[in-house]
Amino acid sequence: AKVHHYTWDIAYHYKSLDCVEKLAVTINGESPGPTIHATQGDTVVVTVHNKLETENTGIHWHGIRQIGSPWADGTVGVTQCPILPGDTFTYRFVVDRPGTYFYHAHYGMQRVAGLDGMLVVSSSSVPDGGVAAEPFTYDEERTVLLMDWWHKSVYEQAVGLASDPLRFVGEPQSLLINGRGVFEPFHCSRAPNGSGDAACNRPRPAGCAPPTLFTAVPRKTYRLRVGSLTSLSALNFAIEGHSMTVVEADGHYVRPVVVDSLYIYSGESYSVLVEADQDPSRNYWAASHVVARERNTTSAVAILSYASNDPRAAPPTPRPEGPAWDDVTARVEQSRSLAVAHRDHVQPVPPRPDRALLLLNTQNRIGGHTKWAINGVSLAFPATPYLVSMKRGLRGAYDDARPPPETYDYRSYDIGRPPAANGTVASAVYRLALGSVVDVVLQNTVALNNKSETHPWHLHGHDFWVLAYGDGKFDPETDTARFNLRDPVMKNTVALHPKGWTAVRFVADNPGVWLFHCHIEAHVYMGMGVVFEEGVDKVGRLPKSIMGCGRSRTLP
Ligand code: C2O
Ligand code: CU
Repeated sequence: AKVHHYTWDIAYHYKSLDCVEKLAVTINGESPGPTIHATQGDTVVVTVHNKLETENTGIHWHGIRQIGSPWADGTVGVTQCPILPGDTFTYRFVVDRPGTYFYHAHYGMQRVAGLDGMLVVSSSSVPDGGVAAEPFTYDEERTVLLMDWWHKSVYEQAVGLASDPLRFVGEPQSLLINGRGVFEPFHCSRAPNGSGDAACNRPRPAGCAPPTLFTAVPRKTYRLRVGSLTSLSALNFAIEGHSMTVVEADGHYVRPVVVDSLYIYSGESYSVLVEADQDPSRNYWAASHVVARERNTTSAVAILSYASNDPRAAPPTPRPEGPAWDDVTARVEQSRSLAVAHRDHVQPVPPRPDRALLLLNTQNRIGGHTKWAINGVSLAFPATPYLVSMKRGLRGAYDDARPPPETYDYRSYDIGRPPAANGTVASAVYRLALGSVVDVVLQNTVALNNKSETHPWHLHGHDFWVLAYGDGKFDPETDTARFNLRDPVMKNTVALHPKGWTAVRFVADNPGVWLFHCHIEAHVYMGMGVVFEEGVDKVGRLPKSIMGCGRSRTLP
């Protein structure tokens, strides 16, 4: 196994990711940052210099379970103190499992400023390493990182969300594919020729054109590792004229499913196989479209070129329109279509849970602010990271007096109306018995505007089996019988669809303190998350480098 060393300067730079200049948080001057490539079993060491001058940071390795290194999870307030301006922090962890993962800022809403990138772990094919080969083949692979992008800063967005009344930044100005896009006001993409609108007829800056996704050699099969780190948007990704075979989700092999287009939520990754089997004399559009929220952002396009063509030549066809933004059925169907590949080789699902949590997701007004709450509790990160206060027995560093509610009044609650009660803001923790089997059912509702959104929930430190997606209100007495215990897919991020519920099961076998939250940057900022602790007494000696804030300042 190898050790991969990286040294990163995190700093603001002027960038024109969508042809409009704006400050971005960069890694060694780039946004997105470099793709980290490693092989299963390798160690990744990243030394981070915070050169943001007036802003803290922290970097999370999304999908890496951090077994034996819970302090390297990078979640500010949970596993570490923020990295202060001028300071240096080193992350060191083992990538124990092949798959497509990410890294991104995990401090306030900093991810919206562009601090992110991909982390690809290849499967080790050393025969005596005992690792099974992947259940599919391909010629080459490429990464596709999808993002959304605003022209307003992190602070304009975050302060707006905390204001009374709330000032929402609105839909993104652009979508980015591998960090590049072309800003075009949405109404211009709708009426490209007739409007006479000055905003639409403004000449584009030089060099501003749809990027080339990659150049394909006819008949070759490409593995595209597609990931979404959007801050808000759910997406649909498609390549004109080419179907895609989904073979991996969040680092787990799935039974191959052929799709025309891929629905992908923030925090999810998929590998899809694409065969270059179309007319090679022309190029094709790849496109990313907003779904699940009323579309108000021009879809992003990139060019799939065939070798021997000009890689920048625009395809002869009109840009793809994408699916209807509000076709929930198609999205739920794709979610349900995923099943584990070759189930003889995977960890069997424990037949029943030791503990079951039923978590109601609501939008609430609390103390003059709009918040998201789980069973009435909106999460606020404590000044002292949970990992430090729990491991070192610091009293009063978080709300340890009252455990958060395990369920809600599901018999009488109306998920079609905004909550009547206010809720509270707290930094509470669910304490899980080490090694226990935990079920979590997420229940969606309508928000204060009477609409129900899609929430992609991400669990740190574990993968879970996705046991079911249901419509309406989950009934523990009857719906548990519908759980798929035969061939459920394992993931680390799962969609909670509008007015529906999603059931997951995991084994609490990773000593540490772990965040479970909606991956929409604004939602977790407004409290949409919970914290799990398991076996914190089994965690090894905490590195001093994660301390230095809150009550951890005085620790020896
Ligand atoms: Cu990718 Cu806690 O997030
Ligand atoms: Cu959400």
